[in-house]
Amino acid sequence: MGDRFELFKPLVRASFGGRLRLIGSVGAQPFVEAAESDPEALPQALAASRGLLLLQGMEAMADDPELLVRLSRIFGAEVENYRQNLTPLNMVHETVPDIFIVSNVPPVSRQPPRRPDPPLTEDGALPTQFPHRKGWHTDQSYRRPPPDISLFLAVTPIRKDQGQTLFADGAAAYDALPPDLKARVEGLEGIHAQMSAGRSYAAVLAEEKPRDLLPHQQPQRQPVVRVHPVTRRRALYLCEGGQMDWVEGPFAGMQPGPHGDGAALLFELMSHLTRPEFVYVHEWTRGDLVVWDNRCLVHAATWFDAETEARVMWRTTVSGNPGTIYAGEKKSWVAA
Ligand SMILES: [Fe+2]
Repeated sequence: MGDRFELFKPLVRASFGGRLRLIGSVGAQPFVEAAESDPEALPQALAASRGLLLLQGMEAMADDPELLVRLSRIFGAEVENYRQNLTPLNMVHETVPDIFIVSNVPPVSRQPPRRPDPPLTEDGALPTQFPHRKGWHTDQSYRRPPPDISLFLAVTPIRKDQGQTLFADGAAAYDALPPDLKARVEGLEGIHAQMSAGRSYAAVLAEEKPRDLLPHQQPQRQPVVRVHPVTRRRALYLCEGGQMDWVEGPFAGMQPGPHGDGAALLFELMSHLTRPEFVYVHEWTRGDLVVWDNRCLVHAATWFDAETEARVMWRTTVSGNPGTIYAGEKKSWVAA
C-alpha cells in the first residue's frame, strides 16, 4: 500500500474491513493527492481489508465535491454519471452529476427504511441478522455487468444510534457454508430486479400486477457465488426482498415465488450471510467516507427518525472490473 498510508485492520467490532490514514497529514485534499500519486495504494488497501475501507476526516469534500469524484476514479475505469441513467434529477448533485444524494431533506426527500419489528433484539441491540433485519442488498445487482465499488460520504450525518449502515462479508460467509449448502449454490443463478419493477417480495405477496418492463429494465441473472476478479476469493452475491425477482425467482431453475423452494433457500442463505460474525455496523461521523466492494459484500441501511433528523449522504459508484463472466457484455440497463 505504499509508504504514505497506514492501514489498521480489521475495523473495531468487526472481523473484516480496515481504516486507512495518510501518514503525517490530515484532510481530504492531501489524501486525494497522495492517493493519485500512488494509484495502487487504495485499491490494494481495499482488497487487503476484504472490501471495506473507512477513511476519516474527509469533510472538506462537502465543499469541494470534485475531490470525491477524483478519489472514486482511483477505484475503477468508470465513475457513474447519474444524469445519463434516468435517475430523477432531484437525487443528483447540482453541479457534479457523478454524485448521487441520499437524503431525507428536500428536494431529495427519500425516506429511511422502516424500523425492524421489534425495533431491538432481545438483548436490546440493533437487529442486524436477516430476517429480523431486512433490506440487505448489493448495489445495482439488477444490472449486467453490475458495478464494482461504492463510495459513501457523510456530509451531514445524524445522531449516533440511528441511520447506521450495516455490512456483511460475503466471502467469509461463503467459506463458512456447510458443505451441503456449498454444493447447492454451485452454479446457481439469482434473478435480480429493480425495486420499482413491481416484482419485489412485498409486491408479489400483495398480488400487485408486475409493471411492464422495457428490454433495458428486465431482471438480470447473477451468479450466487461470485469469484472476485482481484482477490480470486469466492463470495455469496445475493439480495433479498426488494432487489430479487419474486415472480420468476429468486433463483433460476427453482420453484419461484415467496413460498417456493427458491425462497426457502434464499432465506437460509441470507440468514447465514448476516450472522453476527460476518457483520459490521458503521455509526457515522461527519467526514467519514466508507468505500465498499459490491462484488463481495452486502449492505443495509437502518431506520432513523426523519421527523427530527436531517441526513445528507453522497454516493458515487465505480465500475469496470466485474470479472471474466461479464466480458464483452453490453450494459443491460442502457436502452438500445
Ligand atoms: Fe445500497
